[in-house]
Amino acid sequence: MSTTEPSPEQRKAAVAGVFDRAAATYDQVRVEFFGPAGELLVRRTAPTPGERVLDVGCGRGASALPAARLVGPAGAVTATDLAPAMVEAVRRQAADLPWLTAELGDAEQPPPGPFDVVQGGLVMFFLPDFAGALDRYRAVLVPGGRLGFTWFGPPDPRWEPVFEALGSVLPADQRPPRRPGTDGAFASPQSMADVLGERGWHDVDTSDTEIVVRVRDADHWFAWSWSQGYRTMLERIEAHGALEEARARVEPLLERLADDGGLEWRALIRCTLARS
Ligand SMILES: C[S@@+](CC[C@H](N)C(=O)[O-])C[C@H]1O[C@@H](n2cnc3c(N)ncnc32)[C@H](O)[C@@H]1O
Repeated sequence: MSTTEPSPEQRKAAVAGVFDRAAATYDQVRVEFFGPAGELLVRRTAPTPGERVLDVGCGRGASALPAARLVGPAGAVTATDLAPAMVEAVRRQAADLPWLTAELGDAEQPPPGPFDVVQGGLVMFFLPDFAGALDRYRAVLVPGGRLGFTWFGPPDPRWEPVFEALGSVLPADQRPPRRPGTDGAFASPQSMADVLGERGWHDVDTSDTEIVVRVRDADHWFAWSWSQGYRTMLERIEAHGALEEARARVEPLLERLADDGGLEWRALIRCTLARS
């Protein structure tokens, strides 16, 4: 069993590596999830024409691209991510939005502003120093500027046996956390409000929206899992030579789910908005 905890930089590099390898299929496997979640975030941060937006952990642009359409040519969107393939994917899609700049960058180290909006879709829980990042966002926002970000609420209990079964093929000390960031600020809307309030943010408000993710069958579910953060688990299982075993354990559970209400995963997305 390993006794050395990875450093914050190692944790960030590991997350970025997973998403870099996922980027080619990320949000490309005919599952409606990141698009609606990105739209949800942008509805809350509500960029207006001419505003300057920083989108951290931009992925393939689920929130950066809609923000760029809203600010228009008089505005500017800077989209950053630590995964080069994600940055490239945003650049390709932004050919007709020259006021959107996509660049490699750490969400914990925002570029100098000023920005009217800082937003981050489903990324803040990956940051080893979320509190420090909050301070740095405040420093690059105009007074009264908006910070908006999405994160996960409690998991869909119907799917817990599936995740348990997958993890069970790995020795306990090699299982990645089931979900990132479920403690500290991310424990509840109240704990998030407390942390933001302590760091000097105002008008903190978190709203919950359910997004129903639908997959067709086991192949589709595995393709979806490889295409996003759950890839961390699958890569570890692959390195352990246990992918077939994992599939054998999961397939009967997926069949049972399909018979019992369908292969639908109800994702509770929390969206927090605050002012600097
Ligand atoms: C779940 S994806 C979300 C992507 C996008 N915001 C969306 O909503 O589709 C998380 C993204 O955050 C990026 N990421 C994780 N930690 C990061 C960090 N410290 N700095 C910048 N990007 C980071 C990953 O590379 C990945 O693209």
